[in-house]
Amino acid sequence: MKLWGGRFSKPTDRWVEEFNASIPFDKELFEEDIQGSIAHADMLGKCGILTPEEAETIISGLHTVREKIRSGVAKFRIEHEDIHMNIEKLLTEEIGPLGGKLHTARSRNDQVAVDMHLYVRKVTVEIVRLLLDLQDALLEQAEAHVDTVLPGYTHLQRAQPVRFAHHLLAYVSMFERDIERLTDSWKRVNTCPLGAGAIAGTTFPIDRRMTARALGFERIYDNSMDAVSDRDYLVEFLSIASLVMVHLSRLSEELILWSAEEFGYVTLDDAYCTGSSMMPQKKNPDIPELVRGKTGRVFGHLTALLTTLKALPLTYNKDMQEDKEGVFDTVRTLTGCLSLTASLVRTMKVNADVMRKNAESGFANATDLADYLVRRGLPFRQAHEITGKLVLHAIRQGKVLTELTPGEFREHSPLIGEDVYDALSVDKVVEARDSEGGTSRKQVLATLAAKREQLEKNREWLAMRASGA
Ligand code: ARG
Repeated sequence: MKLWGGRFSKPTDRWVEEFNASIPFDKELFEEDIQGSIAHADMLGKCGILTPEEAETIISGLHTVREKIRSGVAKFRIEHEDIHMNIEKLLTEEIGPLGGKLHTARSRNDQVAVDMHLYVRKVTVEIVRLLLDLQDALLEQAEAHVDTVLPGYTHLQRAQPVRFAHHLLAYVSMFERDIERLTDSWKRVNTCPLGAGAIAGTTFPIDRRMTARALGFERIYDNSMDAVSDRDYLVEFLSIASLVMVHLSRLSEELILWSAEEFGYVTLDDAYCTGSSMMPQKKNPDIPELVRGKTGRVFGHLTALLTTLKALPLTYNKDMQEDKEGVFDTVRTLTGCLSLTASLVRTMKVNADVMRKNAESGFANATDLADYLVRRGLPFRQAHEITGKLVLHAIRQGKVLTELTPGEFREHSPLIGEDVYDALSVDKVVEARDSEGGTSRKQVLATLAAKREQLEKNREWLAMRASGA
C-alpha cells in the first residue's frame, strides 16, 4: 500500500514506479533525512502537537531505523519511491501506526529541501578540508623552491623567468578564492526550509526556529513558497565546484606538460602514474589527465541543473528530483580529484637544474634589456625596438643576449655599457621584479607567509564548522 494511496483506485504501473522513484540515488541522504525527522518529531512533542510519549517513541524508532540502515539490515524498496517514504515505512514497521504521525505538519517538499541543505553543508566542510590540504601541499613545494627559477610563459612561449614558488603560489591564490566562495555560500546553505510544508506553511502551531536551531541552521527561509522551490544554493555549489575543477584542470595540464620529456621540469611519483600495455618504456600521467577530463562532467551537471530550473513555475515540481544525481556525482568527482592532486603535488620531484637551464637559454631577459635602456633615458617604445633588433641579431648569431660582445651591444645603442651582463643574469632579472606581488625573493617570501596565515585562519573556520558551530 502506497503512503499516498487513498485517492487511487488502481495500482501504479510497474514502469511508472521505476521511472518515478528516486530511492536508487537519494538513499545517499538517509542520515540527513533521519536527522531532520528527529528534530521535527522533537519539536512536535515540545509544541504539544504530539504527546511527549509519542514524540519519544518516534525518536527512538528513528534511532533504531538508522542503526538498521547503517548495518545493512534494513532494505529500501522501489515501490516506496524515495528516501522519505522508505524511512517512514521502516519506522512504521518498527513502532506501528504511530509512525504515521511523524509526517504531521510536514511535506516531502520541505523535507527534501532540508535534507539537501544538510547534505551540502556537510560536503562543503569536507571540500574546504580537501582544498586546504591541497594548498598545504602546494605551499610545501613552494617553500622548498623559493630559489628555483624557471621560465614563466605567455602563449606557452618563454616570457620572463620566475621563481617556481611564485608559480605555485598562483594556484594557492586560486584555491584560496574557491575556499572564500564556499565559506561565503555557507550562509545561504545554512538556511532552514523546514516548516514550509508543501507550499503555504502549516495549520499546526509549529516552531520553525526550534527545528532550525536543533539542526544547527543560522536562519530560516522567510517565505514558504521560496523555501520549497529554491535550488539556488545547489546551482551555487555546482558553479563553485566547476571553478575548482577549472583550477585543478589547469594545474593538471601543467603537470602533464612539465612531466613530458620535452619539458622535464618535474618527475611524477611512480605510485601516481601508470604504464602502457604495449610500450614498455611508457609512464603515463593518467591521474592529471583524468582530472582534466572529469572537469567536463562537472560543468555538465551545472548546465543540467540551470536548464532544469529555468522555466519551472512555483513551487515544487517533480523536475526538481533531477537536482540530486548531478550534485552527488560532483561531490564524488571533486573529492577524488582534490585528494589525488594533493598527493601528486606532494610527491612530485622538481628538476630545478632543467628549469634553470631553460630560464637561461632563451630570451626571457629581453624585457630587462629594454628596462635597462629606459633607465638610461630612452622612451620604452624605442628601447623595445632596439632590444627587438638585438634579439634578432643574437638569434642569427646563434647566441643568447649575454653572449653578445660589448661591441655588438654598442653598435645597437651607445647607451649599453658593460654592466648590462650583470643586469641580464637570470638571478638579477628575477630579483629585479620587486613590485608588490612580483617574483623577487622578498615578495615571494611575503606572499608565502601571508598564504600560510590565511590557511591557518581557514583551518579555524573549518574546525568551528566541523564541531557543529
Ligand atoms: N523524491 C522527491 C525529490 O527528490 C522528494 C519530494 C517529492 N515531493 C512530491 N511532492 N512528490 O524531489
